[in-house]
Amino acid sequence: MTAPAADIPFRFVAKTTDVEPGRTKCVPLEGRNVLVIHMPNGGFKAIENQCSHEKKSMEGGRIRAGKIVCPHHGANFDLETGKAVSAPAVLPITVYPVKVEGEDVLVQLIEPPKKPKNPFAIPGVQGF
Ligand code: FES
Repeated sequence: MTAPAADIPFRFVAKTTDVEPGRTKCVPLEGRNVLVIHMPNGGFKAIENQCSHEKKSMEGGRIRAGKIVCPHHGANFDLETGKAVSAPAVLPITVYPVKVEGEDVLVQLIEPPKKPKNPFAIPGVQGF
């Protein structure tokens, strides 16, 4: 997870009771789709609800061992770092800083990380 930025406010996304342990809930917020994740052992995570493989929703993905499994093709992402840890995804997802105040789950909408350039791209050629 990216460290919280001092100049970006935390925003309300859900009540702690809105998402069962081990489940996810997609919440539109300020033009983004935030996937709120209630970890099976407690605590909350939040990610941009877009798999880095084919840009599909990860709502309903299984949560296990600190990772989310994309429900479409099975890529695993580390919920601390956003790093893709299994194929077919290779690029990271955005993990938002989260805090819980009372019964409110709050997220900080940091900018998504810059995607690395495709090392196989040929300048001037589309389709890579
Ligand atoms: S869309 Fe997520 S693994 Fe393919």
